[in-house]
Amino acid sequence: MVFEGGEGAGKSTQLQRLSARLTVDGVKHAVYREPGGTPVGDRIREILLHSDLPLAPTAEASLFVASRAQLVHTVVKPALVAGQHILLDRFLLSTYAYQIHGRGLPSREVRAANELATQGLVPDLTVLLRLPVSEGLDRAGKRGEADRFERADRGFHDRVAAAFDQFAEPSWQRAHPECGKIVAVDASGSLDEVEQRVQAAIAAHCPALLSRAGSRA
Ligand code: TYD
Repeated sequence: MVFEGGEGAGKSTQLQRLSARLTVDGVKHAVYREPGGTPVGDRIREILLHSDLPLAPTAEASLFVASRAQLVHTVVKPALVAGQHILLDRFLLSTYAYQIHGRGLPSREVRAANELATQGLVPDLTVLLRLPVSEGLDRAGKRGEADRFERADRGFHDRVAAAFDQFAEPSWQRAHPECGKIVAVDASGSLDEVEQRVQAAIAAHCPALLSRAGSRA
């Protein structure tokens, strides 16, 4: 299960809420964020988000893919084999939105690089939290010092948001089977309202994850 969205859409909060519910229901799972989730990934995260080092767009994309490759190889695949559910805060769809559409990198090469990193792993479901760009940037701006992407110009964030909108369309998903099922959820309103929408989306598209909770309710 993957959570995606633009800046300030509330992914991490909703992931924590889902994780808390799964814990109560006794569902074995682990939560990781991208970039990061491994010691190598955390070092890459520092370069990508919190350094002032100038980065070529191609190098930026390669670093995201490297972090993903390390996470999939050392953490995600072994956990899935052991029967654990994995919740991811961003995955390959972020690279499609930010590096292909935001930075303008060629889609074919970025898709191929991702294929190397994911080793054929396809998310069972991606929950795409959608919020107007200005609202998301406002929320993100209140969280402290802006990272490399939060500092990017408005045009960049508009292209990312338009890309995510496109990914929610069934025709796009049919043409990109490596991304799996993507369901858009309205991220406006209170945290409780968004949580209810997220749970409804998961119940509709990935019922096995919530089945214990469903039988209990
Ligand atoms: P993070 O602090 O995790 O922010 P957020 O709460 O918005 O998820 O920062 C991750 C940033 O990295 C975010 O701006 C999106 C960007 N990103 C990419 O550009 N490409 C990628 O492949 C991934 C995983 C993230």
